[in-house]
Amino acid sequence: VFSAMIDRVILLSLLVLRSSSISQYSWQTSRLISHLTNGPETGEALRFLEELCDDYGPRQTGSKNLEKAIDFVVSKLRDDGFDNVHTERVVNLPYWVRGDDKVEMIEPRHHKINALAVDGSPSGFVEAEAVVVRSYGDLARINYSGKIVVVAEPYYGYGRSWQLRSASRVLGDRGALAVLLASAAPLSLYTPHTGNGARGSRIPSLSITTEEALMLARLYERKKRIVLRLDVRSRDMPYKTSSRNVVFEIKGSKKPSEIVLISAHIDSWDVGQGAVDDGGGIASIRSAMKAIKDLAAEDLRFRPERTIRGVFFTAEEQGYLGARAYDDAHKSDNIIFVAETDMGAFRPRLANSTLRFMGDTRKQRRLEEVAAQLTAHNIPMRVNYSDAQGDVYNLAQPRSIPAVNFVPDKGGDHFYFRYHHSAADYVSVFEEGDLEYTAAVFATMANVIANQDNWW
Ligand SMILES: *[C@@H]1O[C@H](CO)[C@@H](O)[C@H](O)[C@H]1NC(C)=O
Ligand SMILES: *[C@@H]1O[C@H](CO)[C@@H](O)[C@H](O)[C@H]1NC(C)=O
Ligand SMILES: *[C@@H]1O[C@H](CO)[C@@H](O)[C@H](O)[C@H]1NC(C)=O
Ligand SMILES: [Zn+2]
Repeated sequence: VFSAMIDRVILLSLLVLRSSSISQYSWQTSRLISHLTNGPETGEALRFLEELCDDYGPRQTGSKNLEKAIDFVVSKLRDDGFDNVHTERVVNLPYWVRGDDKVEMIEPRHHKINALAVDGSPSGFVEAEAVVVRSYGDLARINYSGKIVVVAEPYYGYGRSWQLRSASRVLGDRGALAVLLASAAPLSLYTPHTGNGARGSRIPSLSITTEEALMLARLYERKKRIVLRLDVRSRDMPYKTSSRNVVFEIKGSKKPSEIVLISAHIDSWDVGQGAVDDGGGIASIRSAMKAIKDLAAEDLRFRPERTIRGVFFTAEEQGYLGARAYDDAHKSDNIIFVAETDMGAFRPRLANSTLRFMGDTRKQRRLEEVAAQLTAHNIPMRVNYSDAQGDVYNLAQPRSIPAVNFVPDKGGDHFYFRYHHSAADYVSVFEEGDLEYTAAVFATMANVIANQDNWW
């Protein structure tokens, strides 16, 4: 009896040891990283991204490009040999089409302004005097009747600046005829940045370059009379459109109904190639899952116990619409973890590379173990609590599924938002290793969380 008890104590402590440490996965993490960054998968994510972006172009919701790109991705995932590759239809999506929009300064001299209409902006022809405000906070004071309002607020970070894109909804009620906004970008080389924000606006709303917004502000402050002429042809189509979320899996060997979900979004804006936002994410998530699947084919220990599910959400740019539809349709799925990359699929190089985490403290500690394992393998990573999630927010709330948003040191305001939603969003923004190391982060997270018992 006594020895049986001792056995049980040893067994129990072994279980506790096993359930409280992920060090046993260190060798798998090494294998995944080298498979991706210095092995069979090296270069594959970039080749895939080139096909996606160069062959299909930008992938705006409602466009043929997007649906053709989805067909291409699905056929690729089938060829890869993933389980359960399919699409799920998302209906009732707003269908806004950019026209050949023109913005000109007529007085004090003639000058063509580089502008991109904001999603949802109505069309219209407007010629009027301009009022320039330096801060959105100043807007409340003035009666804008008969004026075009230029908002030339400096960039204070995307978290604040993107909200300016809805200014036209308020200003339309104060008599303004149209709105021009300084683009939400930390650095500009004469690049206007589009985005959502004008749906429901009664007046045209366009983003302009930071350079030109500041020029208009300077002229205005020197009391020059500014007259602008806008010919906006962009418009909402009178009917809705639809698209598809893309789903693929590696079926779990022991607990197939428990799901670890990793994601990116497949749609983009209509300018540039949608490479940084978010084609790189798509290519990285595919490579992360391919690495696990291909290693599992050689070594059964890589076969995940839980199901790892990749989802490429559609219609993210119109307000997470694909992800919302996905959440609605999958309320009864047992999803235990969700993660996304949409802040730049760049190689983490500095210690401030972050997994933004939303969830309880215990899970945060677990994720910190994963981050420490990545850091030990020369992929610097920390965990930071934040509810600033994107597509996965709807899954995280109110279902309390722990959620992660990957923000490498070059992500977010530092670098990513220079290209985001602009004509400069091309494949060539990425450098060697960016997509592979992003894939390594997701492969490591998915592999550990899909296999640990009594830990996650
Ligand atoms: C704004 O000014 C216009 C005339 O320029 C006037 O008709 C309108 O009533 C004013 N609106 C408000 C809210 O003061
Ligand atoms: C989270 O990260 C942000 C940005 O890097 C930083 O400003 C903030 O202090 C971090 N918060 C915590 C709790 O570490
Ligand atoms: C990380 O640190 C670098 C160097 O200090 C800084 O330039 C960059 O903006 C930081 N990135 C993030 C996401 O905080
Ligand atoms: Zn995005």
